[in-house]
Amino acid sequence: MSAKEKNRAPRNRTLRVSEEEIPSLEAMISSIDELKKGVKERMIVNADLFQCLDLIPDESFDLIIIDPPYNLSKTFSGLRFSAMDSVAYETYLRSWFGKVCDKLSPSGSLYMCGDWQCSSSMQRVIEERLIVLNRITWQREKGRGAAHNWKNGMEDIWFAVKNVKDYYFDVNSVKVKRKVRAPYREGGSPKDWEQTSSGNFRITYPSNFWDDISIPFWSMPENTDHPTQKPEKLYAKLILASSKQGDRIFDPFMGSGTSAVVAEKLGRRFLGVEISKEYCLWAAKRLNTALSDKTIQGYVDGVFWERNSLLEQKKR
Ligand SMILES: C[S@@+](CC[C@H](N)C(=O)[O-])C[C@H]1O[C@@H](n2cnc3c(N)ncnc32)[C@H](O)[C@@H]1O
Repeated sequence: MSAKEKNRAPRNRTLRVSEEEIPSLEAMISSIDELKKGVKERMIVNADLFQCLDLIPDESFDLIIIDPPYNLSKTFSGLRFSAMDSVAYETYLRSWFGKVCDKLSPSGSLYMCGDWQCSSSMQRVIEERLIVLNRITWQREKGRGAAHNWKNGMEDIWFAVKNVKDYYFDVNSVKVKRKVRAPYREGGSPKDWEQTSSGNFRITYPSNFWDDISIPFWSMPENTDHPTQKPEKLYAKLILASSKQGDRIFDPFMGSGTSAVVAEKLGRRFLGVEISKEYCLWAAKRLNTALSDKTIQGYVDGVFWERNSLLEQKKR
């Protein structure tokens, strides 16, 4: 047991993989040789993306979600990614982005996550191949304090398509349930809101500012030790809005498997590529749980609830 594991608080729900579990989880992970035989309906590939790209058929995915290494010095399971100047970072993005784009169907959608430091590089590179339709700002709850600068509390998610006249977007599947602060009545009845035993709520259209999603933390069952794990709730919005049941989703930098897990929970097919064996094992374990547990924290009864509304969700 690692020192990190020994020091975990009793209520810490961060995912662990025991030695005994490894063989059965390994059986869920594909190698590059298996990818050579063809893309399966559900596939986690443990390999370097650069080795995989020529093996994946073009135009075979309806949705691509990309969460690449940002332009920061960070270690992913022993592999160091070093910050570079923005010209070099754009060259890095271009080294795989064009080929990843080739995998998108003509009516497909693509999302790419970034922070303020790499976001403008991403926009430039995306616009070389696709039409950008929006930039979502995710207001993250947590961020490291900075003594001589503003603490970073946000991330960008670029939304782009191949064809502005033909892409899928289901706004009704991603509505947000918000508490009503000023309950306006017309003729004595609630106007555009509902009165319930757990409070007064309005179902609202989602904007490109997302303040209802916290990053996974130790008391959440979805949490792993991945340094930049994305929340399931965030990927659920992307997947519900921009894909249908049974559609194919590709994640070239899968990390701890958030895209695969949410795709499984929402009935989509997926291909995730991740270079770290350790992260693939975490993804496989999460995927196993997702086969029987389809819950996505914060997404209940077909709507997205505000942050810190667990009590109201339980009372409903
Ligand atoms: C920002 S993280 C993705 C996190 C993921 N969205 C999640 O929810 O866990 C980027 C991931 O890309 C992986 N990676 C970096 N270079 C890679 C490459 N050439 N091929 C495959 N994976 C790579 C890293 O190991 C890391 O896990």
